[in-house]
Amino acid sequence: MSWWREFASRVECDAPLGTLTWFRVGGRARYMFRPRVEAQLAALVERAKQEGVPIKVLGSGANVLICDDGFDGVVVRLDSDAFTRVEWDGATLSAGAGVDLMPLTRRCSEQGLSGLEGLAGIPGTVGGAIRMNAGGRFGEFGSLVRDVDILASHGAIERRSRDQLGFGYRCSAVGDGIVLSTRIELKQDDPGRVKRSFDECFAYKKASQPLSEHSAGCVFKNPPGQSAGAMIDEAGLKGVRCGGAHVSQRHANFIITDREATASDVLRLIDLVRERVLRRRDIALELELDVWESAGRERA
Ligand code: EPU
Repeated sequence: MSWWREFASRVECDAPLGTLTWFRVGGRARYMFRPRVEAQLAALVERAKQEGVPIKVLGSGANVLICDDGFDGVVVRLDSDAFTRVEWDGATLSAGAGVDLMPLTRRCSEQGLSGLEGLAGIPGTVGGAIRMNAGGRFGEFGSLVRDVDILASHGAIERRSRDQLGFGYRCSAVGDGIVLSTRIELKQDDPGRVKRSFDECFAYKKASQPLSEHSAGCVFKNPPGQSAGAMIDEAGLKGVRCGGAHVSQRHANFIITDREATASDVLRLIDLVRERVLRRRDIALELELDVWESAGRERA
């Protein structure tokens, strides 16, 4: 009997992944698993580990590029009630890993709970926002976190404090653990003031980024003290195309995918942009995007 049969009611085989990402490209998952509760997730992680089957969590697909071959393992989606709960205790917010960040940010700001308004318009789930310390010029998620419950790779659920999570520029020390939930500290403030600040941050994003097209946000990290977008722009790469993928005219650190695009088109364009910036500026741009490559090919 196949190892995953005991979870069969929550497992889909050969599940399409591309449509679950903002780029809308990429292959299929060998297995897609939607746990109902934490204990079920822990049990599957243990079995998959015994069988040597790799696991990845897919949030709202806002910052990932999945290769055309898909993922030969288990893709976990935390979209059941147990992982999408939101609770308030005064200005402390508890949220499951599967909670959608954009409505949460808006709702807190409308209630005058200050802290998340700088993340206005930043897509993703709470779990993804913790793993990559989502943010931008107006703030980062990690700075608000009190603690996070993580399913560690050895199977135990651990509560880690902000200091133990090693938040940095678009990174954390979550490693191969799975984020389950978090508690974040907000501050009660004047609702009008918080909402105005939310609106200003969102307006900046709308004015400078191609939000109505298919992209996964910024592709590269900003090198220290510099802007990757400005460098790509100066290299004359706006509009440059590989198949169905092109560099945005509005913000050069965004790659836009057309209906006929493939993940290979995006990867070729990433390589082209890197190569041109390296040649012109002698700077090797690092990916901000999480690329799920076929086994044996990893990029940083
Ligand atoms: N710029 C150009 N040409 C471009 C793009 C930008 O000259 O094509 C210039 C801008 O005029 C500005 C500078 O580069 O002087 C920086 O641009 P911007 O203010 O748009 O900020 P960014 O550093 O490119 C960061 C985050 C974004 C976040 C914004 C706003 C990174 C890699 N990107 O962008 O995050 O939305 O600040 O808070 O840190 C993301 O993470 O996916 C993302 C989009």
